[in-house]
Amino acid sequence: MVIVSPSILASDFSRLGEEVAAVYKAGAEWIHIDVMDGHFVPNITLGPDIVKSIRPHSDAFFDVHLMIDDPLFYAESFKKAGAELITFHVEAPCDVKETISKIKELGLKVGISVKPKTPADAVKPYINDIDLVLVMTVEPGFGGQAFMADMLPKIREIKEMINESGRDVLIEVDGGISPQTADLVYEAGTEVLVAGSSVFRAEDYKKAIDDLINACGK
Ligand code: DX5
Ligand code: ZN
Repeated sequence: MVIVSPSILASDFSRLGEEVAAVYKAGAEWIHIDVMDGHFVPNITLGPDIVKSIRPHSDAFFDVHLMIDDPLFYAESFKKAGAELITFHVEAPCDVKETISKIKELGLKVGISVKPKTPADAVKPYINDIDLVLVMTVEPGFGGQAFMADMLPKIREIKEMINESGRDVLIEVDGGISPQTADLVYEAGTEVLVAGSSVFRAEDYKKAIDDLINACGK
């Protein structure tokens, strides 16, 4: 199984609703929504009101990636806006266990994410409580960066951890995913491919999504 989650960070923000509708029509099952607060990362993107405004434009699964300092405080607003999965960072200055519980109490799927310099071990204490691990293959903050191939062993390590747990936890990978890198992360155990530039900068969204899936041989 491989799921493509196009990151709207690379879309035309002046036509956000149309862009979301277009990738959904082109076959995207998920939409990746990057939320940045200017504290956790040196960039600012969008908040719950924007998520709410794009919600009616597709039935895609809303995959919200919070790169913010206080995911506990904002989780409920994103749920109300239409988020279905909320992923936040283990490096955020928050109580990770409490934040996981809060997101689950809201009736949402919950993911935790690790930046490139954070080891796989950081995920271990939470593996029994989460639905997804998001492995960053670029430093979070900006789209269009080069894929870090040295993250592949970490993906394999997390895959092993998940297999040992016997739980159904997905691995999602974010940053520099293209048909050239998709197969590498897929082989390492990834199920969900976040793709910003490689989808939204393409002429043909359907071809771009199909090329990612085909690169994985699935
Ligand atoms: C970076 C974001 C990514 C970004 C990926 O902080 O989390 O989702 O949009 O963009 P590409 O696919 O262009 O590397
Ligand atoms: Zn992201």
